[in-house]
Amino acid sequence: MNKSKQFEREGLEFLNKGNDQKALECFGKAVSLDHLNYQALRNLLLTAHRLGLTPDATIVIRDLIQEYPSDAHMLTIAREYTDLVQGKAMAMAPLTTIFPSKDRPMQAPHGYSNFKKLLELMPFDNPYDNFNFNAVPQDISGGGGDRVFDKYLEEIDVHLIVEVGSWKGASAVYFGSHLKERNIDGVVICIDTWLGTINNMIEYNDPIWGLRKYYVNGYPRLYTQFLANVSHRGLQNYIVPFPNTSSIGAKWLKHHSILADFIYIDGSHEEEDVYKDVLDYWPIVRPKGFLTGDDWHSGGEGIKNAVTRFVKEHNLHLDIAGTKWIIRKA
Ligand SMILES: C[S@@+](CC[C@H](N)C(=O)[O-])C[C@H]1O[C@@H](n2cnc3c(N)ncnc32)[C@H](O)[C@@H]1O
Repeated sequence: MNKSKQFEREGLEFLNKGNDQKALECFGKAVSLDHLNYQALRNLLLTAHRLGLTPDATIVIRDLIQEYPSDAHMLTIAREYTDLVQGKAMAMAPLTTIFPSKDRPMQAPHGYSNFKKLLELMPFDNPYDNFNFNAVPQDISGGGGDRVFDKYLEEIDVHLIVEVGSWKGASAVYFGSHLKERNIDGVVICIDTWLGTINNMIEYNDPIWGLRKYYVNGYPRLYTQFLANVSHRGLQNYIVPFPNTSSIGAKWLKHHSILADFIYIDGSHEEEDVYKDVLDYWPIVRPKGFLTGDDWHSGGEGIKNAVTRFVKEHNLHLDIAGTKWIIRKA
């Protein structure tokens, strides 16, 4: 990570702790090191505005526009900032407050604003648009969520859940329903290739976990089933699919400096893959948030080995609830 990104990340951590002043200093350093660190720049302007330093922030963005008059991103930020200053409230998507903490109340209490903000960062439009889910009967067999998570989710101010490994959406639907039932303006990002695990390919005829029936012209269309299941459950405004590998998903979240409240790891079950997922996603858990996962049972030796190794190496406490494993961040 370059120095500017590092300062930006520190700034986000201060924001999460409610220390706007320190956050502002970090964003300031990030922007002075790299004027084109747009994320840091937006956060700098937003935080300055919130601290009542609007005139200073205005000078910053005015100078940058003079220096980069044809930079489209810069012009967008300037326009959004102007809207914000003129009281057109949420025009400037506050990327760092997508996932506010307890001492940082939501700025946009109405509906699905976090879903929309997240979607804006994606390289695709709303995946549910023009999707006729009624043409795909619901089939949500798979793992699923587990009510054992209820108490952990209720303990924290949850707005962003990251799921690694969604299959047909059983667990995603549990997480999405948790948000919807409580009227939480939150979102679940589901990171999956929708190409299956090694077991799904080897035991391809398994009625629940087999991949065979999803192949069309030699390529699985499992994703279509996932999208249909989410839609049948009416959770289109709570679940954003991220069709890629877990490794790219983690890089993407880090790139956007996004921290999650709760992460659920249920992708590849191979020991070395699980270890890598845990390593990749731990830094993305926000302070006091949770890193969790599935398959703590006799058939999940690889998972147990990987998680135990990680916990020992990082001197962390591990909770087991049913078949789920849970690590809380300090
Ligand atoms: C056990 S299933 C997930 C089950 C799901 N959580 C449920 O409740 O039904 C594992 C999923 O992880 C995905 N997967 C495996 N390796 C992956 C990787 N490296 N990156 C992204 N997804 C992966 C597979 O495509 C598969 O859909």
